[in-house]
Parts: sequence; structure tokens; C-alpha cells
Amino acid sequence: MKILSIETSCDETAVTLLEIDGPLDKPDIKVLGNTLLSQVALHEQYGGVYPTLAKREHIKNLPVLLEKTLHEAGCVMTNDQYPIPKELDFIAVTAGPGLEPALWAGITFAAELGKRWDKPVVPVNHMEGHIWSVLYTEPKISNDEFLISKKLELPALALLVSGGHTELVLVKDFGHYQILGRTLDDAVGEAFDKAARMLGLSYPGGPKLSKLASISRGKKGSLDFKLPSPMLHSGDLNFSFSGLKTAVLYKLRDAKRDDEEFKEDMARAFEDAAVAALAGKTRTALENLGDEIKTLIVAGGVSANTRLISELGKMLRSFPALAFRTPARMLTTDNAVMIGIAAYVSVVKRPELLKGGEISAEGNLTYL
Ligand code: KG4
Ligand code: ZN
Repeated sequence: MKILSIETSCDETAVTLLEIDGPLDKPDIKVLGNTLLSQVALHEQYGGVYPTLAKREHIKNLPVLLEKTLHEAGCVMTNDQYPIPKELDFIAVTAGPGLEPALWAGITFAAELGKRWDKPVVPVNHMEGHIWSVLYTEPKISNDEFLISKKLELPALALLVSGGHTELVLVKDFGHYQILGRTLDDAVGEAFDKAARMLGLSYPGGPKLSKLASISRGKKGSLDFKLPSPMLHSGDLNFSFSGLKTAVLYKLRDAKRDDEEFKEDMARAFEDAAVAALAGKTRTALENLGDEIKTLIVAGGVSANTRLISELGKMLRSFPALAFRTPARMLTTDNAVMIGIAAYVSVVKRPELLKGGEISAEGNLTYL
């Protein structure tokens, strides 16, 4: 199937042309054209994402990215217009969850394109996009051979960690999901960004905070203080990160230090506590589910965090039969490749989606 996919749920505008065929557990995915424009620099000055500003930028960027994607895919312009990509099956667009004004920008653009090209438009759940981002395996850099990936075995447990979401999802089958736990307040990426801001790091501070933490680990074996690992013993699978953020605030205030070494140590204490909460709840979920689970999926922006991946790796020694899947680096943060893949999964499971129909932005969209 050939799919044009569009993602505008937050501060990334992305357009991809994909060709996907084959079984869902090991599809053959070819990225024909792929473009992405991040608004990070724009939102940096406000310390977070402004929905109406994001919408305005998406509206401005979408036609430009569409042209670039089609050009990259080898489509040739005639009369100043790009023709419909040859053998295009449908258009996929993120319908939620996300910032509603931003989502509407993508949906309106997709609907207009669908009308112009006479192609159906299929709504995609952004979180399903993060889950199925792990179906893409990167081509080897050195030659044209593709990494032979194993089939993705289900049921899986998915830990989804991003700037907007933190949840543990039981993936029973393609198209069948159950949320087992979620954050009760801040998402983990948001907590990373807020703690980073307190340390004077610019938005999005998650990766910068993580870098500081690793400098501290390189300098000393252990810290002389710890921050509380939130909800670790709450007895359920929910998360909470706002208390950890407040703990950073108080520690900074009480210590009356703002030298570089103290910042590095604070970053490390924060990262240790946040990662312990994520790894701890994931372990509990795996223990509760038992042998039923074949794969652990970890996806979303924070899956780029090396501390998280290494701690999960250690935890997985207790579950030797479990396969571990994370997305290729370029697919950890928001992108349109994962939206195209999730659309393929949806359409294979529910071909009636190709009949089209009105799509609305749903900021709090949950699994179908
Ligand atoms: O999935 P994503 O691109 O967007 C949302 O859907 O929210 O995730 C972005 C989030 C940001 O909060 C960013 O700080 C965080 O992922 N992030 C990281 C790292 N890389 C990205 N947080 C901690 N460590 C990292 N290495
Ligand atoms: Zn996301």
C-alpha cells in the first residue's frame, strides 16, 4: 500500500510518503519521501508549546513539506502542481491525542488533499503511531542491505514515554489495546523539561539534563543525596511526576548552591528517580502479566534516554524470554513515518476505514 501520512499533534510538522506491504508483525516498509520541521526554536522562548502558535506554523509548513516529500519521492511537477503520487492508496492523518488547534491544521490539510486527489483520509491515533514505530528497522549505513528484523511477537507491553504522555499499554493484538497505567499529572518528558528549566537549560531540556547527569556519573561513583522515586510503591501501575519536580525545586532552594557540579548532581538525582519509577512500574506490570507477554516495547521521545534503556535492559535480565523493541533513533520523537505505519495496521485490521468520512481532532483521544 502507498500511504501519504501527516503529523501535526504538537510542535513537529511532518509529511511522509511510504510504501508498506507484508504481514503486520514484519512489514516491508519503504520510506519514499520524508520531511519534518520542528518548531522547537520558536517555542523555546516561551518555555513550552503554544497551541495557537503551533497551529499557525503547521498551516504555513504543510504545503512546503508536502512539496519536498513528493520531490524526494521522485514525483515531477506539471503546471506548477504536483500530481497525485502514482498508485497512492490513501492519506493518513493524526486525529489525536494532542493539541486540538495543532491537530486541526493537519486534519484540514489532509481533507483538502483527499478531495483534490479523490483519495480517502484515514484518522490515526498518535499513541498507536508511537507503538508501531518499532516495526520500522533502519537500513544498514554501509550498504543497501536491510537489517533482518525478527517478527514482532504479541501480546506486548508498551511503555510510552513522551512530552505529552506516560502510559503502560497492554497490546493484546494489532488494533487491541488496554491502558494499564498512566501518569496522574505531568508526563515524564514534561517533568524532564521542567526540571531542566529549573537548572537553567532551554526547552526541550530533557536531553540536555540527561547529558549533565552522565557528566556527574563520570565524575563520581555515587551521590550523597537522593530524590524520591514517585509512586514506586503505590500498588498500581500509575505514574506521577509533579512531586519529583517539586522535590527538585526545594532541593535547589535549600542547598543554596548553583555551581555546575551541583547542577550535574541534581540532574543525575532527577534522572535516577524518574527512570527508577518507569523501570519499577514496568517490572511490576511484567510480573503481573506473567508469561503471556512476549515483547516489551518502549517508545516516544524519552525512549531516546540512554539511562532508561540501560536500566530497562538490566531489569529484563529477570525476563530472559522477553524480546525488547525500541524505535530507530529518528523515530523516537514525533514523526509521520510512524503515523503511516499505524495507519497501515489500522487499515489491514479495519478495511472499512478506507470508506473515508469526517474526521475531528480529539485532544484526549484514547485507544479505540
Ligand atoms: O514523543 P515526543 O517527541 O513528543 C511528544 O509526543 O510529546 O517527546 C518529546 C519529549 C520532550 O519532553 C523531550 O525533552 C523528551 O521527549 N526527550 C528526552 C530525551 N530526548 C527527548 N527526555 C529525556 N532524555 C532524553 N534523551
Ligand atoms: Zn508523541
